[in-house]
Amino acid sequence: MEALRIITEEHQNLWRIATTLDMVADEIDAGGKVEVPFFSSVFDYIEQFMDRAHHAKEDAFLFPALRRRSPEAAAMLDRLQVEHANGPEVLLDLRARLGATAGGGESNAAFTAALRNYTLAIKNHIRSEEKDAMPLAREVLSRDDWAGIDRAFLDNDDPLFGAKARAEFRELFHRIASLAPESIGLGARSAGELQPGAGPAGGDVLLSVNGMESCYGRIKALKGISLEVRKGELVALVGANGAGKTTFLRTLSGVQPMSAGRIVFDGEDISGLRADLRMRRGICQSPEGRQVFGPLSIEDNLRLGAYTQPKAQVEGDLEKIFGMFPILKEKRALPAGTLSGGQQQMLAIGRALMGRPKMLLLDEPSMGLAPLLVEEVFNVVKTLKAQGMTILLVEQNAFAALAIADRGYVLETGSVTLTGTGQALISNEQVRAAYLGM
Ligand SMILES: Nc1ncnc2c1ncn2[C@@H]1O[C@H](COP(=O)(O)OP(=O)(O)O)[C@@H](O)[C@H]1O
Ligand SMILES: [Mg+2]
Repeated sequence: MEALRIITEEHQNLWRIATTLDMVADEIDAGGKVEVPFFSSVFDYIEQFMDRAHHAKEDAFLFPALRRRSPEAAAMLDRLQVEHANGPEVLLDLRARLGATAGGGESNAAFTAALRNYTLAIKNHIRSEEKDAMPLAREVLSRDDWAGIDRAFLDNDDPLFGAKARAEFRELFHRIASLAPESIGLGARSAGELQPGAGPAGGDVLLSVNGMESCYGRIKALKGISLEVRKGELVALVGANGAGKTTFLRTLSGVQPMSAGRIVFDGEDISGLRADLRMRRGICQSPEGRQVFGPLSIEDNLRLGAYTQPKAQVEGDLEKIFGMFPILKEKRALPAGTLSGGQQQMLAIGRALMGRPKMLLLDEPSMGLAPLLVEEVFNVVKTLKAQGMTILLVEQNAFAALAIADRGYVLETGSVTLTGTGQALISNEQVRAAYLGM
């Protein structure tokens, strides 16, 4: 049933886009401008991602199996497939209206009304699939059905929805998040690029933590944590507020004392090493709550992230970060404190990357962000992973983190209670009940 996890992940993503469009419509109704590049990038993304890939996959693999096993579902599936088939045409109409509105031939209000109809249709469609079609699929499809469907959904070489196509979707999404108005996106004038990578090197253990304990006074916040991260892996550490996630990351990077346990990084026992020396070894953290230096300029914040690095490479690395996040370049001379929350999160990630991490630690990067930027943060994390980066991602947003992670650990009041592949944890009943609200 791996296919259902993928579909739900894509639904979440599309829902965030629809919510974002609603928010932009509100802003336009309140007197805001209709930004053509932004809407064009949204429509491009929807066309590529939703109409050509997401719906195509459902139509080709999931729905035919459902029709075979459950003839009484025909009416519902007919309706859903008609909506799929109409998608491109509705989008063409919206593009035409966007053109007319930009050219002054149609009022902004007419455009936002059409936009709202569209997002409502998207949301209703998603709801119906999640509430009607997918539960039915869980119930009636056989093991063999799922084997075939899952194989198709996981085919990495497929030109429509394989790894390469997914990288293109990420790039298109990145455009949207970059160009979206600052109230809900990054508010940049240009989009920049998330360069695709060579793919993870993969294999050897990079980090091995054994029996880590840490205390605040007499209270033991970490009660013997053991965890492993391999090169090129994306590992998620999830758990409720107060579980000890931040304490774990701080103890790992050496800013919080470890009272028992052992940390081996890249073959070296670093348990007794100072924080700055751990950073030199390649452990770089984007801390909880971003913690950018408000009065310092954006550029200086980024340079601070490179203080352990040879001077010769800093300018080049700076340009790479600016290439990923053009808004940081546009605002490079301004104090970091003037940035929005989403922009600050990109700055915090950029600052960590300036340290040329061998392992990147991210502490709740999606916390407090607008829906579009939550998706964009995970988009960036996926791209970094595709480039071969080893990542330890700490999140309360368990579903989103586990959905992109190779493996995950569930932390409860200072102890690891469950571990497994991201997918196994998402389908684990205990995890679903405790963290996913499902
Ligand atoms: N500076 C501190 N002083 C005392 N107790 C703390 C401090 N920071 C965190 N704690 C406690 O340690 C536990 C773990 O906190 P934390 O690592 O911040 O959890 P998480 O990041 O998972 O929300 C909590 O019970 C919290 O109250
Ligand atoms: Mg925390």
